[in-house]
Amino acid sequence: MSGHPGIDPTVFGPYLTRTRWFGGKGRDFAVSDVRRLGLLGDGNPVLDVLLVELTYADDATTELYQVPLSYYTEPEHRLDHAFVGWWGDPDLGWVHAYDALHDRAATRLWLQAFGAAADGPAEVGGLVFHRTPGHDLDLEAAGTLFTGEQSNSSIAFGEDSVLKVFRKVTAGPNPDITTHEALTLADSPDVAHLYGWVEWRGLEPAAGATSSTTVHLGMLQQFLRTATDGWDLALTSVRNLYADPELAAREAGGDFSGEAGRLGDTLREVHAVLRERFETSTVPASFTAGQMHARLDAALPVAPLLAPHEAALRALFDRLAGLGDLPVQRVHGDLHLGQTLRTALGWKIVDFEGEPAKTLAERLLPDSPWRDVAGMLRSFDYAAHAVERSHDELDETALAEIRLRGAEWVERNQRYFLASYAGGDLTPDERTLVTAYTADKAVYESVYETRNRPTWVDIPLAAVARIGAST
Ligand SMILES: Nc1ncnc2c1ncn2[C@@H]1O[C@H](COP(=O)(O)OP(=O)(O)OP(=O)(O)O)[C@@H](O)[C@H]1O
Ligand SMILES: [Mg+2]
Repeated sequence: MSGHPGIDPTVFGPYLTRTRWFGGKGRDFAVSDVRRLGLLGDGNPVLDVLLVELTYADDATTELYQVPLSYYTEPEHRLDHAFVGWWGDPDLGWVHAYDALHDRAATRLWLQAFGAAADGPAEVGGLVFHRTPGHDLDLEAAGTLFTGEQSNSSIAFGEDSVLKVFRKVTAGPNPDITTHEALTLADSPDVAHLYGWVEWRGLEPAAGATSSTTVHLGMLQQFLRTATDGWDLALTSVRNLYADPELAAREAGGDFSGEAGRLGDTLREVHAVLRERFETSTVPASFTAGQMHARLDAALPVAPLLAPHEAALRALFDRLAGLGDLPVQRVHGDLHLGQTLRTALGWKIVDFEGEPAKTLAERLLPDSPWRDVAGMLRSFDYAAHAVERSHDELDETALAEIRLRGAEWVERNQRYFLASYAGGDLTPDERTLVTAYTADKAVYESVYETRNRPTWVDIPLAAVARIGAST
């Protein structure tokens, strides 16, 4: 990368560690390069879209982060909370720089650039803007930054559209865009429709990396006005259940089984479209089972409490290995209740970026749809336990009672979700597949919890034990 004269790279260190979305917090890093990708607007503000390269001290790996700044010639006190620094820019002169996502006047420049792409891709300020047909964009809507925990940054433009600005970027197609595009072209009712995206062309392919030089920087999509987060909705249902000790899960005011069933339908429809629109193939079940064995090998030393269940897990993975060839396709890749939104018009699935820990090349590989199914099944289990954990005022007897009722809630919603997804009873092979993927996920969770939240590790361990006992 070429340097970006005028900016002292050390301004980015303190700024990055202050943001919500920076994934490298706690690690020692240096800013190894700063590059200007595009400049939007003609003054007060100018939106400078920067690509910041970080090199980590522990393993010398690098990461690229997108950092859009908004520049003013004079201090802009309404943006004091988003101040990044001030310096002399060789092209623009003296600038006071702010985090552009906090600045309505700057986010408006993105929206206006999408406006210029109404009749086809448009180059604006060095970036290329694309639109998908079918929506009349509200170009006057004011931008508001989402406040929730997020690894990217999203701006709602009124009630019309949402711009998700990707933070950690790589050269190559972002599946959040390509998957949303395919589902939008198929007029799927199960996602927020894609309205457009913005990219930058020009990254030299790194040795051994993807040959694409296009970096996807942001995605504009339908704003889901009436949306409630699926995870929050599930927690509310569990809370209602626990609040009334007389009621069984099916009688409780917050019974979730209808929603769980509709979620199963939604996922089935999404998978069907993705099967049509992307490449499909098969993977030998023995290969998939081998990967699960290998993950278990790696997990056992980290989470030794898995050991009593090792034999049962290995037997399950061996059964999977006997299933011949497994169909694989484009999937969500990181599905859980937090990736679903309930709207007045039904469930929508969001965030098709895939599993954050995987490389882009891995995330683009076709995968088994049962991985998504297993993700949802595990999420129901976590919802019940998350609420249970908030009841630390209860004595052991009362806790045992809500655990029992929570287990009933989980079993009921998993059953409704699965039956809807599969359109009836699962075949024995499908049962093996979904159980193996669920076990594999719980093994992963056991490692994650041991490392990050040791008091939660009994949640996935109990799931592993249940699977072991039933196979
Ligand atoms: N189209 C939409 N309309 C309204 N709200 C949305 C829309 N898409 C996403 N959201 C909300 O924004 C949140 C963040 O979106 P998303 O998961 O796509 O971002 P992300 O940065 O990839 O998040 P994460 O860090 O969890 O991966 C979602 O949980 C949802 O509540
Ligand atoms: Mg994401």
